[in-house]
Amino acid sequence: MCGIVAYIGQRPAKPLLLEGLKRLEYRGYDSAGIAVINGKLNVARSVGRVSMLEEKLEGLKGFEGSLGLCHTRWATHGAVTEHNAHPHRDDRHGIAVVHNGIIENYAALKTWLQERGHVFSSQTDTEVIAMLVSELYEGDLEKAVQAALREVTGAYAIAVVCEKEPDVLVVARKGSPLLVGVGNGEFIVASDAAAIISHTQQAFMLDDYNVVKLTRTEFKTTDIHNTPVTPKVQQLELDLEQIELGSYPHFMLKEIFEQPKSLRACMSGRMDTREGRVVLGGLNTFAKELTRARRVILTAQGTALHAAMIGRYLIEDLAKLPAQTEYASEFRYRNPVIEEGTVVVAVSQSGETADTLAALMEAKERGALALGVINVVGSSIARETDAGVYLRVGPEIGVASTKAFTGQVAVASLIGLFLARRRMMSAGDCADYLRAMETIPEKIEKILEQAPKIKRITEKYVERENWLFLGRGYNYPTALEGALKLKEISYIHAEGMPAAEMKHGPIALINEGMPAVFIANKGRQYEKVMSNIQEVRSRGGHVIAVATEGDEHIAKYVQDVMYIPDIPEPLSPMLAVVPLQLMAYYAAVARGHDVDKPRNLAKSVTVE
Ligand code: F6R
Repeated sequence: MCGIVAYIGQRPAKPLLLEGLKRLEYRGYDSAGIAVINGKLNVARSVGRVSMLEEKLEGLKGFEGSLGLCHTRWATHGAVTEHNAHPHRDDRHGIAVVHNGIIENYAALKTWLQERGHVFSSQTDTEVIAMLVSELYEGDLEKAVQAALREVTGAYAIAVVCEKEPDVLVVARKGSPLLVGVGNGEFIVASDAAAIISHTQQAFMLDDYNVVKLTRTEFKTTDIHNTPVTPKVQQLELDLEQIELGSYPHFMLKEIFEQPKSLRACMSGRMDTREGRVVLGGLNTFAKELTRARRVILTAQGTALHAAMIGRYLIEDLAKLPAQTEYASEFRYRNPVIEEGTVVVAVSQSGETADTLAALMEAKERGALALGVINVVGSSIARETDAGVYLRVGPEIGVASTKAFTGQVAVASLIGLFLARRRMMSAGDCADYLRAMETIPEKIEKILEQAPKIKRITEKYVERENWLFLGRGYNYPTALEGALKLKEISYIHAEGMPAAEMKHGPIALINEGMPAVFIANKGRQYEKVMSNIQEVRSRGGHVIAVATEGDEHIAKYVQDVMYIPDIPEPLSPMLAVVPLQLMAYYAAVARGHDVDKPRNLAKSVTVE
């Protein structure tokens, strides 16, 4: 999604801003722009990559100042054009604005501003902020921004500069993340810590309705009514190494290979195998409510929803508690019935997904206990929950979610076991599951050793435009996830579904050589999956199976096998998904796509 970087300090702003924008490229965008105050306001924008903006800037003068802001835009209001790219400017006072989020009342504000003689050059909601700040400007940028934001409804993270105040940068937030990095005689503001970390580790996060006025030496925080606020400057928990590629060609591959490490971090200290106990400090305050819970609703979007589905199976199966999953976007508007004793769990890597946040708020309003399974610490969803469990898998830069998925499944599994233990599961049974969970990182390492073989298998089928992903039970969501991964980055059409569902229509698609990936590990429904495999084979489909190590039998019935180590079935998705992640990656590379910048996608979707 859109990215913001702004700078005020002693150093030339331009290189620093462009470096920051490159660190935010992973979030997905379609145009970029920069504004620097150097005596007067200078703005440059371009459609396409940050490198194209850089090329454009090479021939331009006036960008030498040490105060500026920049932006990557992911189009929502208005097409992908230079006019619609940020920064948006007003020429009466030389004001420039960058904005993430959506201004909901922009149409009414636009009409009002047009009546006052403002001429708009874009179709965006953001230009309204620039004009509104200008309309209300009486020689004090901070006051004008506060006044403008009192008129605005919607979500925003904004940064504003004015050529009449060359020593002032004003930033504000409601609903969209924004951090201020506190350096030595300088401040770097960004929508994501990745753009700050190479300059300083000291930062504070804005709360909703905070407005921060930054000069080169100090900052002052208020709310939109000018009431003083004291932010808490903290150490950023992020290493440069975590957000750099190192020796990997793509972040996606790096993160797939990081999974043994990220899962160790995720599970560390949370499993007491001696006592057969799950230790989730974040949930302690609500232990009583959780013991008495009558229903669990897990809500999320995309990959996070697939992880939630696995959590649902586990909670039902092991804790014997009614559980359901809901697309957050549907749940919110369905007028859902929330009975007493309902626990809602929002699952999200970014913690900023607009639909998931809205669903959580809706459930909270209706009386549910709101829990979060979130990766990004301090994110909007994390702040709104009553309690939660962080993934601790480190920053995920690849647009296609991989290590966050296995982290989400691990945490959902721990929550399932936590609930099961509080209900009827014995300490011994719980200890068995926890011991099995402990083996997952090393088992993933074994799967990763097969990467060259998985690459060869993928390349055999990479020209095919339609694929099926099929699984049952715990690995039905894994099939959905395999299909989503392939679609997102290789642009191959793939459908995931319960293996039994195929006979009810999709089987008509199967023709000679069509790839069908089956998750056919050992489990309760193994024989049934084998029958489904036969159904595909007898219609000419080519079956690629994910099977349990030692299952030589399956090789006779399928074209290709990718083996995963044995593990209790409820935990098997964390292993079965890994070959599917690798297949998606190798398919995209073979097709020549930019794996880390897939077309049309944004890393975090902050619009509904
Ligand atoms: C797919 C993917 C998306 C996200 C979805 C929710 O690889 O990354 O489907 O899972 O947009 O995002 P979060 O988890 O940030 O709420």
